[in-house]
Amino acid sequence: MVDPQQLRLALREWASGVTIVTSRSGASVHGMTVSAFASVSLVPPLVLVCADKASSTQAVIAEGGVFAVHVLGAEQQALSDLFADEAREDRRFEGLAWRSGATGAPILPGAVAVLDCRVEGAHDAGDHVIYVGRVAAVERAGGEPLLYHRGAYRGLASG
Ligand SMILES: Cc1cc2nc3c(=O)[nH]c(=O)nc-3n(C[C@H](O)[C@H](O)[C@H](O)COP(=O)(O)O)c2cc1C
Repeated sequence: MVDPQQLRLALREWASGVTIVTSRSGASVHGMTVSAFASVSLVPPLVLVCADKASSTQAVIAEGGVFAVHVLGAEQQALSDLFADEAREDRRFEGLAWRSGATGAPILPGAVAVLDCRVEGAHDAGDHVIYVGRVAAVERAGGEPLLYHRGAYRGLASG
């Protein structure tokens, strides 16, 4: 049996980008910070995110069947913190100039790329659900990405 604390420490060595995954079910919009994002297929266009079963976002994706992945830019650390902060769970969209995407999922401003998806499959995986999304629309603004490693935000080394 692998000790969960040892697993957590090993996984901290994995460097990743940072995304915010938003969703909508009826009038309810929600979203959270997610690093467990991956590309899956170009044709058909598929991506995946892993959502904690205990998260409110997981419940909204399950109900609404849509999600939008925002690849965060280097200047968006505060937004990443906001969308990870349980204490501010109900205030995350306050003051944000968000709009509805092609699927109805909320689209936030300022991301370096956005993938607007309809749920293609939901796979039970331990304490998470793996959502495979079919990409309905993409946006790309470019810019430097926000990175995450050993519990801290990082940037690309220049050169
Ligand atoms: C850098 C970072 C990456 C995260 N990655 C994930 C993730 O991949 N999946 C997940 O379920 N939660 C992830 N979280 C935790 C959620 O963002 C956090 O638990 C959030 O408060 C859940 O919000 P909700 O319950 O309102 O949906 C991450 C947090 C941070 C700071």
